[in-house]
Amino acid sequence: MKLSVRILSVLPIAALLASCGQTPVPVSNTNMVKENLTEAPKDFVVFPDDKPSIPDGAQVYKQQNCASCHGADGGQDATVKLNDPRFMARKKPVDMYKFLAWGNKETNHPGVLKDRSNREVWNLVVYTRSLGTKPLTDKEMEAVAPVFGANCAICHGTKGDGDGPLARNLEPWPANFQTFRRFYDRDDDTLFDHIANGIKWEGMPNFLGKEDKRNKVKFDHAYIHKLVQYVRAFHISNQPTIVANAGAASAPATPSTGTGTSTSAEPAKAPGTTTATSTGSSPETPSAGETPSTPDTGAGADQSNGVKSPTGSEQSQEPKDHSAGQ
Ligand code: HEC
Ligand code: HEC
Repeated sequence: MKLSVRILSVLPIAALLASCGQTPVPVSNTNMVKENLTEAPKDFVVFPDDKPSIPDGAQVYKQQNCASCHGADGGQDATVKLNDPRFMARKKPVDMYKFLAWGNKETNHPGVLKDRSNREVWNLVVYTRSLGTKPLTDKEMEAVAPVFGANCAICHGTKGDGDGPLARNLEPWPANFQTFRRFYDRDDDTLFDHIANGIKWEGMPNFLGKEDKRNKVKFDHAYIHKLVQYVRAFHISNQPTIVANAGAASAPATPSTGTGTSTSAEPAKAPGTTTATSTGSSPETPSAGETPSTPDTGAGADQSNGVKSPTGSEQSQEPKDHSAGQ
């Protein structure tokens, strides 16, 4: 009796001594910074360092099984229809990023950032947008390029980076269409409004109802929509970047999340194909050599470099002369 009591009373001390030595201290008792303090805050958006790619996003859409609820073309009714152009015209890319990265707790909508790289989430965003709003085909891009060159480049620059010849006479400077932070924070309706009606008190003219006689173009609603998508092409790519990986071998470089085994090896859509909708049979397997010839879609590259006067604004035909500066 007496003995056992004594042993019991000694035990805690023994345990204490032992813990001073080699017993690992449970993590929860350490002074390490709490996990929830070190992880990035939920609404912290990391913008991509290059244009996200629509065809690359098609792969993610497939692999994440988005089609199981939304259908391959986004037309399946999941209370929202992703292939509805009106629905998509009101969505800012950055809001879609947040939704698709972290999901929606209230509706239990899946978020994919836990399985996917940041870039893949952006690819998914631009692909999902393309279900509702088709990007311009290569042919349409080529047709709009001279019109952009004649009417926009004088301020926005041929490459859309806001450095046209007139730029430094304007305050604020014309928008740089390659600024992801700015343009992913715009829905298409806003861009439409600003191109159609201009921006008051700023240099951005209104185009709706005007005409470019030389290029035989009337700036009606349909054409302004085209211009919106042309501007989008400066920060959204319609070219695949993972063709080489996906097409060459049957081993996809992207981590497959265990869904469509064989489908994930399917190569990205051929450059320029806008019909991101067709599900299975895509016969146009781009051969390895067939890398996109124009990686810089948006540019309209060396199109008539904006020396012509834009509609409306008068022609201060100032050559790029740096001496006259500020
Ligand atoms: C389990 C079914 C289901 C799956 C899987 C699913 N969705 Fe959804 N999705 C829904 C439902 C239901 C809604 C409407 C409710 C909501 O907004 O959460 C929705 C809404 C959306 C919206 C509109 C959000 C908004 O701003 O209103 C987008 C975009 C979207 N889904 C894209 C995707 C993509 C991309 C995937 C694949 C990663 C995906 N969904 C997977 C069911 C699903
Ligand atoms: C005379 C100069 C000029 C011309 C010509 C011009 N813009 Fe602009 N544009 C501007 C300025 C200035 C801004 C505003 C910059 C700012 O708000 O920071 C702007 C802004 C924009 C924006 C950004 C709107 C937003 O919501 O952020 C778009 C899109 C745009 N222009 C498209 C076009 C297109 C397309 C054309 C040709 C059809 C064109 N612009 C012609 C000067 C011009």
